[in-house]
Amino acid sequence: MTFDVARVRALYPALADGYAYLDGAAGTQVPVPVIDAIADAYRAGIGNLGGAFEASDRSEEIVARARQAVADLTGGTAGGVVFGPSATELCYRVANALSRMWTADDEVVVSRLDHDSNIRPWIQAAARVGAVVRWAEADLETGELPAGQYADLVGPRTRVVAVTAASNAIGTRPDVAAIAAHARAVGALCYVDGVHATPHVPVDVTALGADFYATSAYKWAGPHVAAVVAAPDLLETIWPDKLAPSSNGVPWRFERGTLPFADLAGAAAAVDHLAALAPGGAASGTVSQSRRERVLASMTAVEAYEAGLFARMLGGLDELGVTLYGSAARRAPTAFFNVPGVPPRTVAERLAARGVNVWSGDNYAYELCTALGLQPDGAVRAGVVHYNNLSDVDRLLAGLAELAG
Ligand SMILES: Cc1ncc(COP(=O)(O)O)c(C=O)c1O
Repeated sequence: MTFDVARVRALYPALADGYAYLDGAAGTQVPVPVIDAIADAYRAGIGNLGGAFEASDRSEEIVARARQAVADLTGGTAGGVVFGPSATELCYRVANALSRMWTADDEVVVSRLDHDSNIRPWIQAAARVGAVVRWAEADLETGELPAGQYADLVGPRTRVVAVTAASNAIGTRPDVAAIAAHARAVGALCYVDGVHATPHVPVDVTALGADFYATSAYKWAGPHVAAVVAAPDLLETIWPDKLAPSSNGVPWRFERGTLPFADLAGAAAAVDHLAALAPGGAASGTVSQSRRERVLASMTAVEAYEAGLFARMLGGLDELGVTLYGSAARRAPTAFFNVPGVPPRTVAERLAARGVNVWSGDNYAYELCTALGLQPDGAVRAGVVHYNNLSDVDRLLAGLAELAG
């Protein structure tokens, strides 16, 4: 059975504007059920938590449902899902809280492949206590992040290994399980940035060996809210800065201030939407299938569908003779390239004039772009998500052909 992209696209009102949205890596569009869930939360009336009235109970229910939804999406535990405004903010919270337990004898390992949000918070937290930062390097020819190097990087002094599950620039999906195993062998924690991976592949935080797994709902058809998933037992051992009257419980103590209840209703609806993307939608699953099972089946179908589009994109880019960065064996469907002689921002502007949305710049893959010698302009980034179709890809290729010609 083929992936019914026409059915999926019909759920996204924004796609009606006629643009080819190949900018999903910077944030996806939002389908009707998610928009409705957010609007319905406000329509029903929401109150702050802990009140003696029903609107407050509704918000508690929304939060509980959202935690379960993210747990189903990632294979985590609802009681270990911490919400926050962005993955960046959550990484800062965790890094700052963990670093209170570090000394100048300790070490953290970051990777040159990562988005800066999983690098800088660790570097700054380490600097405050004088801890040492060690770097895992990406192979600049292939874009791979060889897991073998972690045998030398990780040792008895390592406290945290921070690594991405997928590069938001060149798509590389490192062998996180192997990297996390190095961390676990010395009692270090592994903080995995799953922001770019989550929209593209089935995720299982246990199989990855991730002690923390960060994900942002706005990359998978949800609103602008993020989560970090950890084992509740682990969270119990960590004390972030927090207000005196706010809950000391887990995961609450990591959530500063009032949560965005309506957006959390939208995040839960986004997980339901992902779970129904598989061919035939929800109807393809038996009624006894759990949402977790439907998410896994659906994301497996999404991965295969996107791989087809991405193969066409890469083939076309290759024929056009653009300069492509990264060719890792396992990749998220995201291309990073330059058109010789044309600045990336100009490429993006000219494509936009032809109705094709792509990004340009370093996309906060700051260290990688610096290592590749691409600063300050970076490169062009075009990627596919589940609502893109062959026409989107072909319009990109046609636009680039005109540009080159
Ligand atoms: C791989 C990756 N990590 C982290 C982030 C930061 O996410 P947020 O905007 O939720 O802070 C992004 C955003 O583009 C990303 O692509």
